[in-house]
Amino acid sequence: MSIHKEIKKVTTHTLLKMKAAGEKIAMITAYDFSFAKIFDQAGIDVILVGDSASNVMAGHQTTLPITLDQMIYHAQSVVRGIDRCLVVVDMPFGSYQSNSEIALASAIKIMKETGGHSVKLEGGAEAIDSVKKIVSAGIPVMGHLGLTPQSIYKFGTYTVRAKEETEADKLKKDALLLQEAGCFALVLEKIPAALAKEVSESLSIPTIGIGAGGNCDGQVLVMHDMLGINTEFKPRFLRKYLDLFEQITGAVQHYVKDVKGRYFPNEGEQY
Ligand code: KIV
Repeated sequence: MSIHKEIKKVTTHTLLKMKAAGEKIAMITAYDFSFAKIFDQAGIDVILVGDSASNVMAGHQTTLPITLDQMIYHAQSVVRGIDRCLVVVDMPFGSYQSNSEIALASAIKIMKETGGHSVKLEGGAEAIDSVKKIVSAGIPVMGHLGLTPQSIYKFGTYTVRAKEETEADKLKKDALLLQEAGCFALVLEKIPAALAKEVSESLSIPTIGIGAGGNCDGQVLVMHDMLGINTEFKPRFLRKYLDLFEQITGAVQHYVKDVKGRYFPNEGEQY
């Protein structure tokens, strides 16, 4: 008999069962080992290695510049920190849009080199061939509709999507297409809550909302936003659970004062 306590891992099937049972799914982004370890132990169900790493880790204005190898580096670090969570790795801009062969090659590279459990890509009808190809290779795919940041230069702004009937109708059709193509879940980003509710009720796979209201099957937030590391980003949907910017600034100012005032290190903090 093993003395190790069995760890109940979250799988794509777990998420389907959670939706069926009406249990909400908690997802958060992470980009490194240390935070992934904390989130895994804190009870998060799904960790997204988001291409938002391009913004919050690398300081770019958009998600477009991050490369496949950079995403792989972040995902490898996250996977080393987790025991339990399902890890979803974002496919970066340029790694899947050209054709489904390139999409499959990128997804296989992510799975082989990171140890992650699934990939996420943005888009509806235009991404269906790639989704089918990746799923048929045995790789679980999460879809992403609504505000899809890799298309920011097409949209022009980061405002709420699918407020008009035509765009809302396309989104509903895309959601069904992605489900039929084999996606195990869908991110719905910054769309009206009523539309997200309708889509969530029409699908058997779970929806994970960000700025899409409380009737999605789960929620996702970018860790830097919900922990208050970012100060400039204040959309209505964001709930800040900490103000780490303030706390870290205070701690570091205290350290600087201690070093300059010769209070650190003290007798007990040396050999
Ligand atoms: O990259 C990311 O962080 C995301 C979430 C906003 C869903 O795609």
